Amino acid sequence: MLLTQSAIGEQYRSSQNLDTRIALHDRFSTNKYDWMRWVFDHMLDAAPDSRVLEIGCGSGQLWKNNLDRIPSTWAVTLSDASAGMIETTQQALAGSAFVAQAQFRQFNADALPFDAARFDLVIANHMLYHVPSVDRTLGELRRVLRPGGRIFAATNGPDHMRELDELLSGFDPALKLQPVTQTFRLDNGAAQLQSHFANVQLHRYHSDLVVTEVAPLLAYAYSMARTNIAPERRAEFEAYVQAQFDRRNGVYIRKETGLFVATR
Ligand SMILES: C[S@@+](CC[C@H](N)C(=O)[O-])C[C@H]1O[C@@H](n2cnc3c(N)ncnc32)[C@H](O)[C@@H]1O
Repeated sequence: MLLTQSAIGEQYRSSQNLDTRIALHDRFSTNKYDWMRWVFDHMLDAAPDSRVLEIGCGSGQLWKNNLDRIPSTWAVTLSDASAGMIETTQQALAGSAFVAQAQFRQFNADALPFDAARFDLVIANHMLYHVPSVDRTLGELRRVLRPGGRIFAATNGPDHMRELDELLSGFDPALKLQPVTQTFRLDNGAAQLQSHFANVQLHRYHSDLVVTEVAPLLAYAYSMARTNIAPERRAEFEAYVQAQFDRRNGVYIRKETGLFVATR
């Protein structure tokens, strides 16, 4: 079952849930080369006068983590459907020189408020699986890209965070993670991109989680819209997770993440 559009709006009303999840990855990932730095590495060959659009920018982490190397001649539009996310992004970047070359806009990726062929790069990271129609949004992204322009779209694979799924469903089968990313994943994204773009390439980022503290993992679980544990069951749930940690001396969770790059 996919999240409804109203559940997505609720989940991302503020950046709090996303921040909690990013914090777990930041602290316990086995790959210490930052994910956002790795993603940005793939864009650095873009022309100095590039016009760049990001949709579903979340808390602006891609830009925050690369402030030291964003070409100062790029014109960048950061957008998200959530007003709260845009506010957080603006706050996170306030005071940096980058603000002078950035615009912040709130709109839905269904229909982009731009003329055709306006951008050289479009970025849609970990968000295409949330839009009501991936095909429609990819069509919009193609429309606003100039011929030869590139799309960057990060997503997860079907086994991403599988051990967390097993941990939760071991407590209660009803907590089995719903496959919220299934409409655009590493295993089906290329075919969808090929309907709109050429030269579709997938770059995989190799990293897993070795979580050695219970509290950040509990916070992660509670941050997800689908982990709806009733308040009266939380003490029991937390004791269960603690017991799993004690038994295994921490928790290993595999990740499956990557970045598609394609050309209009
Ligand atoms: C998982 S977060 C990813 C944020 C960021 N791209 C990153 O990689 O950290 C998904 C983001 O997509 C936004 N979003 C969801 N549906 C959207 C839509 N239809 N149009 C625009 N943004 C959307 C959410 O508000 C949220 O900020």
